[in-house]
Amino acid sequence: MAYVDLHSHVLYGLDDGAPDQSTAVAMLDGLAALGISEQCVTPHQKAGQYLPDWDRIEQTLSQLETVRKPTHPTLRLGAENMWDDVFYQRAADGTIPHYRGTSAFLVEIPPSLIPVGMADRLFKFRMAGKLPVLAHPERYHQLWDNDDLARTLRASCAFVVDLGAVGGFHGKRETKAARHLLECGLATAVATDAHQLGDLQQAAAGLAWIDKKLGHAAVTRLFDHAPRAILTGELPD
Ligand SMILES: [Fe+2]
Repeated sequence: MAYVDLHSHVLYGLDDGAPDQSTAVAMLDGLAALGISEQCVTPHQKAGQYLPDWDRIEQTLSQLETVRKPTHPTLRLGAENMWDDVFYQRAADGTIPHYRGTSAFLVEIPPSLIPVGMADRLFKFRMAGKLPVLAHPERYHQLWDNDDLARTLRASCAFVVDLGAVGGFHGKRETKAARHLLECGLATAVATDAHQLGDLQQAAAGLAWIDKKLGHAAVTRLFDHAPRAILTGELPD
């Protein structure tokens, strides 16, 4: 058991995630207990709400590394990029924050509306050798009951479902969508998207659901093999 978690807000004091260092350390304790050996830390990059500057993010990471225990997962810096004007500008400049050392980057979109031209832009990222990774696809209303649209987007990006949604904690419709994406094979991977300590119990419930309904091989595929492949720039089937 050596899971890889692609999405979390463990870096503290930057967004709506961990408020301080001691909470971040407690979260790393909990993430280690879940069996995670590599933890991606992905603070929000969202215009007008959470756009901490990169120096501060790097500084926080360095500080957290100094108190990280040997039992904790290793940390890989990334970001959760909102598909907004800042993102468009960064796409044009080639400065979208990626998972460090990889060609993959995490992106989210507003829940109520798929951005115009999104499928086309995802395809262009792929053609340019990038791997877009879509956070919590279960949240996006236009993907509910529209597997054709989900399949179109999924052809050019990874779908990383939140374990808390699978566990039933992010709303009824989101839970239904998260489980459907897993059952029909459209989900590429799962992640904790942990913002606080309590989210880890919710993630454990999500893992337990997958284990029970889809089997342990599915847990291994979604939380170990697929995230590792993504971090090598590969888009799993
Ligand atoms: Fe997130």
